[in-house]
Amino acid sequence: MLKRLLILLCLLGGVLPVAFAQNYCLTPPAPAAPRYNGPAVLGARPGSPIIFRLPFSGERPMKFSARRLPKGLSLNAAEGIISGSVKKPGEYVVKLKAKNASGSVKAKLILKIGDTIALTPPMGWNSWNCWGLEVSQEKVMASARALISSGLADYGYCYINIDDAWQAPDRDADGKLQPNDRFPDIAGLGEWLHGQGLRLGIYSSPGATTCGGYLGSLDYEEKDVQTWNDWGVDYLKYDLCGYRAYLKTLPEVTQADHIKPYVKMKELLALQPRDICYSICQYGLMEVWTWGREAGGNLWRTTGDLTDKWERVHRIGFQKQRGLAGYSGPGHWNDPDMLVVGKVGWGEGLRDTRLTADEQYTHVSLWALLAAPLMIGGDLSLLDEFTRNLLCNHEIIAVDQDPLGKQADCLLEDGAIQVWGRPLCDGSFAAGIFNLGEEALSVDIIEKLKGAGWSGIGSCRDLWRQKPCPQTVNIPSHGVIMLKFNAMGAK
Ligand code: GAL
Repeated sequence: MLKRLLILLCLLGGVLPVAFAQNYCLTPPAPAAPRYNGPAVLGARPGSPIIFRLPFSGERPMKFSARRLPKGLSLNAAEGIISGSVKKPGEYVVKLKAKNASGSVKAKLILKIGDTIALTPPMGWNSWNCWGLEVSQEKVMASARALISSGLADYGYCYINIDDAWQAPDRDADGKLQPNDRFPDIAGLGEWLHGQGLRLGIYSSPGATTCGGYLGSLDYEEKDVQTWNDWGVDYLKYDLCGYRAYLKTLPEVTQADHIKPYVKMKELLALQPRDICYSICQYGLMEVWTWGREAGGNLWRTTGDLTDKWERVHRIGFQKQRGLAGYSGPGHWNDPDMLVVGKVGWGEGLRDTRLTADEQYTHVSLWALLAAPLMIGGDLSLLDEFTRNLLCNHEIIAVDQDPLGKQADCLLEDGAIQVWGRPLCDGSFAAGIFNLGEEALSVDIIEKLKGAGWSGIGSCRDLWRQKPCPQTVNIPSHGVIMLKFNAMGAK
């Protein structure tokens, strides 16, 4: 009942005057019938465990089926979770189906068993922006439960990543890294997440300590990877921090000095019998985008930390990502940092993100265009209807998850207007027309797309509203219109 009321208020926001509608919802409600919102491709290495919760929205109960599953995989038809492992490399086309009282739908999933994982940017949740150093297993579980109950998991969000501050102050007698008393059982947490079709992420540093002053992996790399493997870890964020103390002792620091600890970890991860998505975090130093892929990164942070201030979104999103498109692609993504949406606070008390509704539409739109990992930073147990609506637009997510994996670049700058665009795998294009100025602007869409280098623009869709584009549109200050259209290629 409460949920319905929140949805109604959020949708009404879209038609009320701005004063009454700070957080207005643009994404139309999902139909009751099943709809596939997930990636078209999934990568895994031969023999590695696969855990994939089928991202279908629609009313429950829902029954799932999967035809042509390769040998080694099975489907839990009531929960919609595919698990198992595939030994033989190759491309498998799996035919998925979901059915409920309102209808049924089919979808195709291409499973690529080979060397490359993270064929589309990883999606999920990370503890840092909400809990900072105050994270606990209980809080992580609360967000994981909410990821499912809120329906976010039905849109492909699947990683539950513990950031800094899970480590105990001392290793055990064998040198094994221990969780602290806020984390009674990380292996149990991993098992529980896998049972839900979700994945577990962990955090460490190549230095002796992490940014938060907790134990890092220096000189214990092999042992730590073994521990994480035993716990069922699926994702590692490896944060430079304490390693800088060592770098400071060198007479001159080269790119090679930065690369070394990351390659060491890559080699250890490659030996594990499971796929561990490798997130390199060193704030873009030494032009990481030029070597992150070689160092084994599935993603790498391109900048310092994002916070919930418009200036940071502007700087990190619009200034720092320019020219980086060529370095990203399936299996290796530029990472402009986690989403600063919902209830954040970095461990100093939760509060609503300080970004306005329009700034949040801009943030999510730009991240989708940038093929950025979509890691939600807010506490999901307190997810509000606006944030849920913002994060569950399957047409926006489809841009981020497009299998072609071509990151957008800035194609037009015209006063306060910027147009960022990218080609999509079906031959169409996605573009965001952003208003970075302080006043609302009326914009002729076709004119701006032409200015960005597209010609012969055919059918055009407004992705947030999920309806055909208007000819002209009023774009609020710091706001956006996100489009998908057919055209001749941009310059
Ligand atoms: C920072 C990193 C943040 C977070 C934090 C933990 O260096 O950029 O994303 O992981 O450390 O202490």
